[in-house]
Amino acid sequence: MCGIVGYVGDQQALDVVVEGLRRLEYRGYDSAGVAVVADGALASAKRAGKLANLEKALGDKPLPSSTTGLGHTRWATHGAPTDRNAHPHLDESGRVAVIHNGIIENFAGLRAELEDGGTAFSSDTDTEVVSHLLASHVAAGSDLADAMRSVCRRLDGAFTLVAVHADIPDRVVAARRNSPLVVGLGDGENFLASDVSAFIAHTREALEIGEGQVVEITANGVTLTDFDGAPVDEKRYHVDWDASAAEKGGYDYFMLKEIAEQPRAVADTLLGRVDSDGQLSLDEMRLSDDELRDVDKVIVIACGTAYHAGMVAKYAIEHWTRVPCEVELASEFRYRDPVVDRQTLVVAISQSGETMDTLMALRYAREQGARVLAISNTNGSTIPRESDAVLYTHAGPEVAVASTKAHLTQLVACYLVALYLGQVRGTKWGDETRAVVRELADMPGKIDQVLETMEPVRELARQLSDATSVLFLGRHVGFPVALEGALKLKEIAYMHAEGFAAGELKHGPIALVEPGVPVFVVVPSPRGRSVLHDKIVSNIQEVRARGARTIVIAEQADEAVVPYADHIVRVPVCPTLLQPLVAVVPLQVFACEMASVRGFDVDQPRNLAKSVTVE
Ligand code: F6R
Repeated sequence: MCGIVGYVGDQQALDVVVEGLRRLEYRGYDSAGVAVVADGALASAKRAGKLANLEKALGDKPLPSSTTGLGHTRWATHGAPTDRNAHPHLDESGRVAVIHNGIIENFAGLRAELEDGGTAFSSDTDTEVVSHLLASHVAAGSDLADAMRSVCRRLDGAFTLVAVHADIPDRVVAARRNSPLVVGLGDGENFLASDVSAFIAHTREALEIGEGQVVEITANGVTLTDFDGAPVDEKRYHVDWDASAAEKGGYDYFMLKEIAEQPRAVADTLLGRVDSDGQLSLDEMRLSDDELRDVDKVIVIACGTAYHAGMVAKYAIEHWTRVPCEVELASEFRYRDPVVDRQTLVVAISQSGETMDTLMALRYAREQGARVLAISNTNGSTIPRESDAVLYTHAGPEVAVASTKAHLTQLVACYLVALYLGQVRGTKWGDETRAVVRELADMPGKIDQVLETMEPVRELARQLSDATSVLFLGRHVGFPVALEGALKLKEIAYMHAEGFAAGELKHGPIALVEPGVPVFVVVPSPRGRSVLHDKIVSNIQEVRARGARTIVIAEQADEAVVPYADHIVRVPVCPTLLQPLVAVVPLQVFACEMASVRGFDVDQPRNLAKSVTVE
């Protein structure tokens, strides 16, 4: 959701800010704007639509040269995505410019109060109240940081706010509550951004900003306080990837590049997590073995693709540890009065580490006494920071909105957590753990094999580009794979797609099967529990008998499926529980090709945001 960039230094602020916004485009947005401080005045421009519209406006009417500025990509919440509602929002005198991510829940009351006092509003946004409030505090003698603190104390809801003032050319002030913001620390220049990718081309040194804090940056300094003005400790960190990791690297889309990076991402996520005896050592977990032995229930909370990884975690955790495991959509969790106590381990999975639904669910779980373990791809993000323990996935930056490599690394992290729990609690023998770890270590090679054989899948997408509906079936861990295949197709190819547990078919969804409808079926290994395999072979026959075009994802040498498959996509032999790591890949490739053939923006699908920072 909204991308935020602020800059003070010796470069042209506009160049830095627009480049930063470009790198934040992946977050999803529908309008963009910038403001700079120059010659004792503010100059700003904003446009609905893509960044290119803003760049064209800037080309037609350039802003003055300046080394202090801010920029914003907006994902509309209050007010349509129009020029008028795009950020920045200025006060009536045009002295303050504000950009905002999040929702100010009490804006209506504040707006009414300001309007009663004679303030004229020029947008439908919740943000604009902040511009007017800041301006009045500065007019009354506050400096900008003080004004920001005073205003924040009056605001309810979640927000990142960034402001500049015409009378204060050399600083940018920002505030954060429940919405992402980081500082980039340069040499004679400093940056503010929603995430580090905005400034990674300039610096890899970053500073976390905690909840309820205000930060002021100048070219040579950063001052951090809470909303009452008390100084707070700085937490610096180094970003372990560079600008090239966030580039397309010759691929047409980020999604293609990220699909191709999956073998490396999986290998990197396993790296350093197994000691020389083949024992797992998850040092960064920060939960003691005693605490893990106390656990009597695991609840996994996550959203979307991360939730599908969580569904796989349930199979692995219950099978390897015999600890009951529930999986819950984070957005539902705290509303159902869940049974959570000190012996509950809550596993919160989030690529971005900023998803508001997941954050709120984890806060609720901690209030109830549960211990929370985060699985996240984003160092320094809120969810790991607020959790008792963290296991980072090492997917590197994921730019395409549709999650691919982050998903595979989430699966790996879930397997590691399950195995570690089994190791600590003694439910798995050392040699059993070592055997699974060896099989995990073979997975990058197997994912590579799948990637090498994807041309027929792309061809199939081209053939099926006019399909009105696509169904996905799976059993056991193949069920979340089916859900993931359907989600990918919906989000980027805008096709009606549904994933089902194959056994549920006869309880309703089979009515959707009509001649020609493509049905993907994820088939478990015939070497696993044979009953599982046999049952799904029957399900393939059921849909085929009703005219479906069956596309079967099956292990090499699984001959039983051949008579019922219109198309077979082969995946390498691997243990049933690990099969999602290879079975989901053809579904990602299918969706990516389908979106491209149908002429849609693969990396930035409509209405979606990469980092979903509102509930
Ligand atoms: C789908 C997708 C989303 C995310 C979901 C959670 O491709 O990316 O469904 O998985 O929004 O995001 P994170 O993992 O950042 O919490």
